[in-house]
Amino acid sequence: MSDPYTRAAVTYSSYLKLDELLSLQQPRSGGPEHDEMLFIVIHQVYELWFKELLHEFDGVRRLLENDEPYRGQHTLKRILTILKVMVAQLDILETMTPLEFLSFRQRLEAASGVQSDQFRQIEFLLGNKSEQTIRRFPEGSRARLALERRYAEPTLWDAFLRYLSREGYAVPQSQLTRDLIARIEPSPDIQQILIEVYRHDTKNAELCERLVDLDEGLQEWRYRHVKMVERTIGARPGTGGSSGAAYLRETVGGSIFPDLWEIRAQL
Ligand code: HEM
Repeated sequence: MSDPYTRAAVTYSSYLKLDELLSLQQPRSGGPEHDEMLFIVIHQVYELWFKELLHEFDGVRRLLENDEPYRGQHTLKRILTILKVMVAQLDILETMTPLEFLSFRQRLEAASGVQSDQFRQIEFLLGNKSEQTIRRFPEGSRARLALERRYAEPTLWDAFLRYLSREGYAVPQSQLTRDLIARIEPSPDIQQILIEVYRHDTKNAELCERLVDLDEGLQEWRYRHVKMVERTIGARPGTGGSSGAAYLRETVGGSIFPDLWEIRAQL
């Protein structure tokens, strides 16, 4: 243990590691181009939010595993609030005109948000896993190790189904022991259970609604991101090698928890 008489007192700056943090924004353009700073800061802020989201998602899953639905709902509410802030932050980036972006775009070379491992970790946690994605990251790297771990873990939906089963719902064994790597496919059995939950079980219906909020919130981010991309680079291909907005448009509108959407017409 350090000696309290000789140890330097914790300050705002030392606690937050401000010197390190504030040295991490390094524009690549000569000059440098004014708007590159905004571009770097906003991406770094997103990565910090992704980190916090992953931390909170781990928390929700743990709370469901421990049969604490009220605290789980509370944490989901925090996640949704963060998501709203993340969507709103795109407004700031939209103040950058196409020409301002083009002034430094070639400096990004092949760098793109498509390579964000934390974004992929969130997708894995929500059931959209891919071995191909893992292979894009160097073996032994922080990103690859994190993705490998999340690949093998139960998704948030798995934790939810197991929780429902312990609440007394007849979740089929095939769902409780489903392949954790497989996509979450619609299931008529689960839909029947969810209809029962919505009709007779306010506590768990509220939990379901928060999951729908989450699903919708992520779709909202995708939609706003593609609109921002369209207004900034139009039909140009992405720096990450995709067709750009055309590729991104295909990712909008897909639901994370299909059963929660399917039942709407049957309630
Ligand atoms: C001027 C600003 C931006 C532009 C023009 C832009 C453009 C693009 C493009 C074209 C793609 C498709 C992949 C490719 O590069 O070929 C993409 C993917 C992506 N971008 Fe952005 N982006 C911008 C800002 C952001 C910000 C602030 C974030 C926040 C982290 C972000 C996160 C992502 C993610 C996660 C993907 C992968 C989406 C997926 O594969 O489903 N982007 N972006």
